Amino acid sequence: MIASPPHSSVPDGTFPPGFLWGAATSAYQVEGSPLADGAGPSIWHRFARTPGRIAAGDTGDVACGHYERVPQDIALMQSLGLTAYRFSLAWARVLPEGRGRVNEAGLAFYERLVDGLLAAGIEPTPTLYHWDLPAALDDRGGWCNPDIAEAFGEYADVVVRRLGDRVRRWTTINEPWVVTDGGYLHGTLAPGHRSAFEAAIAAHHLLRAHGRAVQACRAAGAREVGLVVNIEPKYPASASAADQAATRRAHAYMNRQFLDPVLLGRYPTALQEVFGPAWPGAWPQADMDLIRQPLDFIGLNYYTRSVVRHDESAWPVRAAAVRQTRATVTETGWEVFPQGLVDTLVWLRDRYGPMPLYVTENGAAFYDPPVAGAAGVDDPLRVDYLRQHLAALAQAIARGVDLRGYFAWSLFDNLEWALGFAKRFGIVHVDFDTLQRTPKASARFYADFIARQRVAAVQPPTRAAMAAAGAD
Ligand code: BGC
Repeated sequence: MIASPPHSSVPDGTFPPGFLWGAATSAYQVEGSPLADGAGPSIWHRFARTPGRIAAGDTGDVACGHYERVPQDIALMQSLGLTAYRFSLAWARVLPEGRGRVNEAGLAFYERLVDGLLAAGIEPTPTLYHWDLPAALDDRGGWCNPDIAEAFGEYADVVVRRLGDRVRRWTTINEPWVVTDGGYLHGTLAPGHRSAFEAAIAAHHLLRAHGRAVQACRAAGAREVGLVVNIEPKYPASASAADQAATRRAHAYMNRQFLDPVLLGRYPTALQEVFGPAWPGAWPQADMDLIRQPLDFIGLNYYTRSVVRHDESAWPVRAAAVRQTRATVTETGWEVFPQGLVDTLVWLRDRYGPMPLYVTENGAAFYDPPVAGAAGVDDPLRVDYLRQHLAALAQAIARGVDLRGYFAWSLFDNLEWALGFAKRFGIVHVDFDTLQRTPKASARFYADFIARQRVAAVQPPTRAAMAAAGAD
């Protein structure tokens, strides 16, 4: 029998009314049926068919079968008390060739999802791009082709015109850094290129595409538009000048490369040191103006930190991560470091100024024991991870961060990109043979946490609390 997960130490009432309590997924990782109903292939559909690219030859052909199970998956979210669901739209379902012809059936799928969520009292929180570029656009240079900005704007226009009356909050791109680092620099993710020259150019056009999409979303009536970034705080391994400089480079490359242009209108100068001759230097001011569109929020995906030392052989940043031997480390080799979430939220506020923030992803892959009948899955390490990171949110709020919501990654075990199905991040277990869903202990812990916080948020303050605030 699995013990009931212990409660969190976060005091009830820490989070304001209306705080979003969600879980997140992305299209290619959960939907399955990638070519159904007239959809076009994406770069991930192709990548998965290239031998050796995804562990064990896994593909997103079936994944969690979410495409065919939306009503039951919404009922599951409702049973957990989620108030928001973050998902992405597959561009090639809506525009099979990336531009031009709209596939009505693809759009209708997302319309059913949005309507179903709203009927269940769950706020739909869509992302327009979570890494699955239409293959037809990759054939024309993908993110290295400057025309991609216009194409992304057209796609945003089609989607927001259809759903903007029901969706409040839009995200343009999920983790542009991963798109370029994994897809164009190291080649571990689709489309699998390995070139510093391409990575720098793709980064710029991703940013232009983001700017163009913000304009298109607003023109089509979107109420709120934002960007989601992954930030991994960098701490120097020693006080040596070399380690400090390596930390500065790593921080500029991973954490500031996209946010500085979007929010401050300029690239960090340290990128020149990172990219060397591959850095294109000054871009036209008109591009920088396009990139710096006013935003309504930033979404932060936080998983871990990195302790950095200088390493000349670590191309191209010349910085390596030092493994922390005394820390808990997840199945993807990431140190569990909740303080980094506090530090990052405070850093975002201090560097870029006060603005609404959401934690749009946070979670961990751990080895899970098999489903134990009705008792479910006992995942104490994930429960602990969630508990500690939820406590970190409370600390950030206490330090004045304008935090508006939290999304656990992920609602389901799913296709962990090039690592395949073996790395399980879900709070809900998925049996990939039967597609049976089973909430893990972490889902029950999170559901209980949400329920308590929501009750506390709407309760009138007690006399004692009012007296303490001087209102008696
Ligand atoms: C991505 C997810 C991914 C998760 C865990 C994030 O970088 O947005 O798609 O599954 O991290 O690796």
